[in-house]
Amino acid sequence: MVYKQVVRRALFGMHGGDAERVHETTLNVMARLSPLAKFARNQNNPRTVFGVRFPNPVGLAAGLDKDGRALPAWGALGFGFVEVGTVTWHAQPGNPRPRLFRLTADEAVINRMGFNNGGAAALAARLAALGPLRVPLGVSIGKSKVTPVDEAVEDYRSSMRVLEPHADYFAVNVSSPNTPGLRGLQDRGALSALLAALETPVPVLVKIAPDLTDEAIGELLEVCAAHGVAGLIATNTTIGREGVADSPVAAEQGGLSGRPLTARALEVVTFAAKETAGTLPIIGVGGIHSPDDATRMLDAGASLVQLYTGFIYHGPGLVRAINRRLAGAGQATPRP
Ligand SMILES: Cc1cc2nc3c(=O)[nH]c(=O)nc-3n(C[C@H](O)[C@H](O)[C@H](O)COP(=O)(O)O)c2cc1C
Repeated sequence: MVYKQVVRRALFGMHGGDAERVHETTLNVMARLSPLAKFARNQNNPRTVFGVRFPNPVGLAAGLDKDGRALPAWGALGFGFVEVGTVTWHAQPGNPRPRLFRLTADEAVINRMGFNNGGAAALAARLAALGPLRVPLGVSIGKSKVTPVDEAVEDYRSSMRVLEPHADYFAVNVSSPNTPGLRGLQDRGALSALLAALETPVPVLVKIAPDLTDEAIGELLEVCAAHGVAGLIATNTTIGREGVADSPVAAEQGGLSGRPLTARALEVVTFAAKETAGTLPIIGVGGIHSPDDATRMLDAGASLVQLYTGFIYHGPGLVRAINRRLAGAGQATPRP
C-alpha cells in the first residue's frame, strides 16, 4: 500500500515520467545502498533445483539489472536469486530512446531496449570484484547486434567462457523480440547447433517466447532434452497486444510484459510441464503480480518464479507476500 501510494507515485512522476531515467536513478540509488544489504535477512524457503540451492524460489528476472550494478541489494529485498543480463559479447548501446513505455492502467510495460549492456567481459570483472553473493546468480546471454545470426554460436560461447566462473546457471536468451533474427534461434536446427556448441559445466537454461505455437514449443523441448538442457525459462515478453489495444502506447514496437502476459505465460508453463511430464525444471515468469499468480505458476509445474514488471508496479512487498504465501499461509484462490 505504502509502495503504491507513495513510492510508486513518486517514482512514476519523476523525470517528467521518462520511464528509463527513473529506472536508471532507482538503480543508482540501489547500487549506493548495496553495502547495507549485508544487514538484511533473506527469507528462507529453500529448495534445490538443477543442482543449485535457492534460499527461496522468487527471483529477479533478466533485464532489470543487466550489468549487475546493484547485485547485493536484490537478496536484501527478499529475492531468492537474481538473473543478470542479458549481456552480449560486444558492449552495445541498444536501440535509440525512447525505448521503454509504461502502460500504467494495464500494469504493463512495452520495451525495445535491444540488449543495452557493457559486455560480458565487463560483467565478469564486476562479478569478480564483488566476490560471493548471498543468493544464486543466473547470467543471461544474448547475441551481439553486430554479430550475424550465422555466427551467433561463437558470440554466445565467448560470453560464457568469461562468465563461467561466476554463474550458478546460464540463461540462453533466444527469445527477445528486440534483436533482429534472434528468435529464429528457437527453431529446431538453429537451437540444436547452438546448444551442441555450448560446452560448460554450468547448468544451461533456455528462455523462450510466449508467441511460439504448441508445435514449436514441443519441438524446442525435444531439442532441449537431446542436449541435456538443465531447464526452461518461460516466458519472455510478447509481441502481441491482447488486452492493451486502448493504451496510447500500444502501437510502440517492442515486447509487452506484465498483467496482460499472466494468462499466456501460465499456459506455456502448463504446456511445457505436461509435455516433459515434469522432468525438465521450469522457471515461470510473465505477469506475476500477486501471490496467487505465483502459486498458480508453481502449481502448473514451475519450480521457481521470476518477477520484473510486477516488481515495478508492486515493489518489494510483492516478493515478501509471495514468500509468505509459499511458506504455508494458504492456497491460491481459483480464478473466477
Ligand atoms: C524493460 C525490460 C527489459 C528486459 N530485458 C530482458 C533481457 O535483457 N533479457 C531477458 O531475457 N528478458 C528481458 N526482459 C523480460 C523479462 O525478464 C521477463 O521475461 C518478462 O518481462 C515477463 O515477465 P514480467 O511480466 O514479470 O515482466 C525484459 C523486460 C523488461 C520489461
